[in-house]
Amino acid sequence: MTATTETQADLSAEIAELEKLSIEAASAGQNVRQPLLNYPPYRSSILRHPTKDPRHADPETIELWAPCFGNSDVDPLEADLTIAGSNEPIGERITVSGRVTDGEGRPVRNQLVEIWQANSAGRYIHKHEQHPAPLDPNFTGVGRCITDSEGRYRFQTIKPGPYPWGNHINAWRPAHIHFSLFGRAFTQRLITQMYFPSDPLFALDPIYQSITSQKARDALVARYDHDLSTPEYSMGYNWDIVLTGPSRTWTEPEEGDL
Ligand SMILES: [Fe+2]
Repeated sequence: MTATTETQADLSAEIAELEKLSIEAASAGQNVRQPLLNYPPYRSSILRHPTKDPRHADPETIELWAPCFGNSDVDPLEADLTIAGSNEPIGERITVSGRVTDGEGRPVRNQLVEIWQANSAGRYIHKHEQHPAPLDPNFTGVGRCITDSEGRYRFQTIKPGPYPWGNHINAWRPAHIHFSLFGRAFTQRLITQMYFPSDPLFALDPIYQSITSQKARDALVARYDHDLSTPEYSMGYNWDIVLTGPSRTWTEPEEGDL
């Protein structure tokens, strides 16, 4: 069976079976890695998921030539994704903010945080993405900032739309924003995705479901924060990122989808 003939019902049955196995493994006391690297419902990862241990690199050698970033490299205006064009982008304006901390709650300061996302119609500016949703000439979908002394980041943007991704017939990704945390050197870079509360696509999405721990899934979902909303202007979402410890935010083992 090829990906183009498979239905959501086919995929949902596979997801349910793997969910059952993972619950059984957890109840038997097995420590299940999150996410499952071998997660066949995420079809494009079948041949490219890691099967070997990561290649270890000497961080000191890499730091001699890899890029690094500081406050002088990033303009504060780059955190506002709504001002790149000559007019306002279409869509629901949102503020996304949170803290980057270690497992002890200590702020991770002066860190480069980069985001990329679809526009409000669910379209990226990318040559491999050609589904018939409109591009927005006033929205590039990329932004970056440096965390402050409290480890806080803050972006002004547009709520992204869900988009089809060809994993199976009628496959749609829940709305999400991709996050990159650069770390102190290129070898430390972490990438993950932030989701929005109560998305009806969570149960159907093989990427979200490849994380089988509900606690780890929940940690990827932003919280509506009324104090972050701006009167007459935008909705606020809070999303904190924990880099270490048992409450660590899940990050991708390698490059993810768009
Ligand atoms: Fe995406």
